[in-house]
Amino acid sequence: MKIVLAATGASGAIYLQRLLSRLDTAAHEVHLVFSTYARQVVHEELGELLVPPGVHQHGDKTMNVPFVSGSARFDAMVIVPCSMGTLGRIAAGTSDSTILRAADVFLKERRKLLLVPREMPWNLIHARNVVTLIEAGATILPASPSFYGGASTLNEIADTVVDRILDQLELPSPGMFRWKEPSE
Ligand SMILES: Cc1cc2nc3c(=O)[nH]c(=O)nc-3n(C[C@H](O)[C@H](O)[C@H](O)COP(=O)(O)O)c2cc1C
Repeated sequence: MKIVLAATGASGAIYLQRLLSRLDTAAHEVHLVFSTYARQVVHEELGELLVPPGVHQHGDKTMNVPFVSGSARFDAMVIVPCSMGTLGRIAAGTSDSTILRAADVFLKERRKLLLVPREMPWNLIHARNVVTLIEAGATILPASPSFYGGASTLNEIADTVVDRILDQLELPSPGMFRWKEPSE
């Protein structure tokens, strides 16, 4: 599978870290792009992001990457965490950065685009932008952890969101708590 991961400046760098640690980079081609503010949030929340070997990292100001063109066949893009700023710019069709152009391409090609926004409360503009993106084919997975599976550590809580991302990507999530099913 060919996957683009994009990190933007919303709180929740832990979700990106957990997702990176759970993707098999030997089995999948993983590309990673950071917005400028994503780097600041990573610094505030994690200090440092551990990027597994094999992940291809790119800046957010280049169009010299394959996934900004529909001609390159990619399977999925995940924006995690996704700021309301990036969400709004995608909804408006702005595509003047690597992340925004890639999201635009995934939508026009009807490829899987997952956004993991974090903001509270929402204003009407946020809500309208979310509706626009759902109508355009994106999947919105709010960073809303669940607690009914007994998660208690920070990593376990973050994994309740990451498990759902992996489900959307149709990738295995061993150990995920599934309601009324024996655990994997
Ligand atoms: C520490 C920190 C936490 C932030 N948390 C959020 C957040 O949870 N949600 C959000 O939409 N923006 C948040 N922001 C604001 C965004 O980073 C800001 O709107 C920025 O312009 C987003 O740009 P980007 O989407 O290009 O990364 C936060 C900023 C900082 C510095």
